[in-house]
Amino acid sequence: MLDFAKNIAKEAGSLIVSAFDQPPHYHEKVSFADLVTDTDKQVEDLVMSRILGTYPDHKIIAEESASGRSILTSDPTWIVDPIDGTSNFVSKFPFCAVCIGFYKEKQAQFAVVYNPICDQMFYAERGKGAFMNGRGLRVSHCTELHNALILTDWGGDRNASNLDTKAANIRRLISEARGVRTMGSAALHMCQVAAGQGDVFFEFGIHCWDYAAASLIVTEAGGYCCNVDGGPVDLMARHCVAASSKQLAEMICQKIVPISYPRD
Ligand code: IPD
Ligand code: CA
Ligand code: CA
Ligand code: CA
Repeated sequence: MLDFAKNIAKEAGSLIVSAFDQPPHYHEKVSFADLVTDTDKQVEDLVMSRILGTYPDHKIIAEESASGRSILTSDPTWIVDPIDGTSNFVSKFPFCAVCIGFYKEKQAQFAVVYNPICDQMFYAERGKGAFMNGRGLRVSHCTELHNALILTDWGGDRNASNLDTKAANIRRLISEARGVRTMGSAALHMCQVAAGQGDVFFEFGIHCWDYAAASLIVTEAGGYCCNVDGGPVDLMARHCVAASSKQLAEMICQKIVPISYPRD
C-alpha cells in the first residue's frame, strides 16, 4: 500500500510540476493570504479517484473537499493535502508537497510527503523507519534551545491578535535559539526535522492534513511529536510540535503562548 501511495504522489507531482511554470489560477479562501489553485483541486481529484478506484470502502479526509468538522474514526482513512504550500506554489517558491497519510484504528500506518519540484519523496511506514528517496532519515541530536534551528510559520490567518501572539512567540524563542525559519510548508518543515535539517517545528492554525502524514515521518525518524500541552498529538487540535527530542519539544511547549483555533 505504501508503494501505491508513492505512485499516486508521483502522478500528482507531475501535475504540479507541469503547472508550476504556468500562470496560476487561484482564489482566496479565508483571507487574501489563504489561496487555492485549480491545481490543488486537480491533484485532490486525482488522488481521491485513485484511492477510491482501488479501495472504494475507505474514507478520505482531503483539504479541498473537507466541509465542516473532519472526523477520524477507526475505519481505514486517508488524509490528503493535495498541495501543502499553495502560496509557495503560486509564488513559484519551490517548497511545496503532496501529503498522503493512511490511518487505521486512528493510528498512522504509512505516510508520504512528496516535493515534486525538488523530486524529494519522504515516506515512512509504522515501525519500519523513515526515508527520503531510499535513504534512511534520522533526526538531529539537538536537545538544547541554544543549538536549535526552529521551524514555524505564520499560516494564512491575518487576524491581528493571532499575528501578535505568533510574532511574540518568535521574538521569545529567537533570543535563546540559533535561528527561526519560516518557509511556507508545515509538512516539509516537519520532514526537515525528520531529516535532521532543522530541530523543531511548531505551528498554530494548521489542519489535520498538514501534519497527519508528516508526524509519522518524524516519529519514525526517531523524533517526538506532541500537543502544545505535551500530550499526544491531537490531529484535530489545529497545532503540532515536532522535535528531534522530547526535551526540545517540552522546552518549546513551555516557552510558547498557545493560540486556539476551532477544531477540525
Ligand atoms: C499551509 C502551509 C503553511 C502553513 C499554513 C498551512 P496549505 O498549507 O502548511 O506552511 O503556515 O498554516 O495552511 O494551505 O498551503 O496547504
Ligand atoms: Ca490551503
Ligand atoms: Ca497544507
Ligand atoms: Ca493544501
